[in-house]
Amino acid sequence: MSGKTVLVSGGAGFIGSHVTVELIEAGYDVVVADNLSNCDLTCFEGVKKITGREDIPFVEMDFCDFQAVEKLYDDYKIDAAIHFAGFKAVGESVSDPMKYYHNNLVSFMNILTVARKKGGCILFSSSATVYGEPDKLPVTEEAPRKEAESPYGNTKRICEDILRDCVAAYGELKGISLRYFNPIGAHPSALIGELPRGVPNNLVPYITQTAIGKRECLSVFGDDYPTPDGTCQRDFIDIVDLAKAHVCAVERMLSGKMTARYEIYNIGTGRPLSVLELVKAFEKVNNMKLNYKIAPRRPGDVTAIWADPGKANRELGWKAERSIEDTLASAWKWEKRLAGE
Ligand code: WQD
Repeated sequence: MSGKTVLVSGGAGFIGSHVTVELIEAGYDVVVADNLSNCDLTCFEGVKKITGREDIPFVEMDFCDFQAVEKLYDDYKIDAAIHFAGFKAVGESVSDPMKYYHNNLVSFMNILTVARKKGGCILFSSSATVYGEPDKLPVTEEAPRKEAESPYGNTKRICEDILRDCVAAYGELKGISLRYFNPIGAHPSALIGELPRGVPNNLVPYITQTAIGKRECLSVFGDDYPTPDGTCQRDFIDIVDLAKAHVCAVERMLSGKMTARYEIYNIGTGRPLSVLELVKAFEKVNNMKLNYKIAPRRPGDVTAIWADPGKANRELGWKAERSIEDTLASAWKWEKRLAGE
């Protein structure tokens, strides 16, 4: 939809940069805003190379600064905003909850308050973590949300409720929450990808860093779960597929196709994969043996969760397309590029 401008808050990050690429390639103008507290400009520079666009506006700012958010909307005619800006380390949120509640909630309330005055559409980056340990699999959007396992997960649930209640109360707003399952991989160009700071919490960056030799050995957290091979099952979704879902959601908001002013979508493949199955797939597609050991369970992990993506398939016209092999090959290509290979 040309002529429309989308604000991507936290747009220099892993998911934000991949979404920016897909928005530009779909014909949108994009404004990227980020306080660079959790990343540098590596991915933003990669976005410019992939799209061939040196003119993408970048605004270094903090969404907790209300005046800065107001100025952003005054400086650019923003038709829709995608809100990624927020902290996302589950463990850190347990040790420093106030950092997470303050940053993740204030930044979101600021953008909503300003967007309301400017007649905005808001797309919120939510997470399947709101489902906790699901009672039924695959998980649909009607599944009950469970008590969050971490302050990080709780901020996702609270932000969903803030968006739902503000849309209901204020006629100027429309909103969609996208509940991601497990985003993995990197852009096929290997110009953008995941840049975890310090020791990776998540599985795939830990695998690729072990494979490249940055980490000694991957610990598989538990093989005594009630699953076929004893390891946890997840719905690993390719980051480019995930990014394309955001373009579909923005199109739905801006084209007036929404059937309610607040909608929720699960963004997953619908394909459960265990930790060991993913490790084996990585070894096979990249033709290597990975050094791993079985370790004790990690507190807070759910046994199994995967999406029923039917609602997103039908209403967003979106479906995950990339194979796990392609995704793991792109993750490895990105890690090798980071190592200068
Ligand atoms: C996946 C599986 C681990 C690392 C989290 C957040 C979620 C979203 C994605 C931000 C689990 C196992 C992991 C390792 C392992 N984050 N694992 N060894 O926990 O499903 O989801 O990240 O938006 O909100 O909750 O992802 O990649 O950390 O773990 O065995 O070194 O891999 O036990 O079973 P998770 P994960």
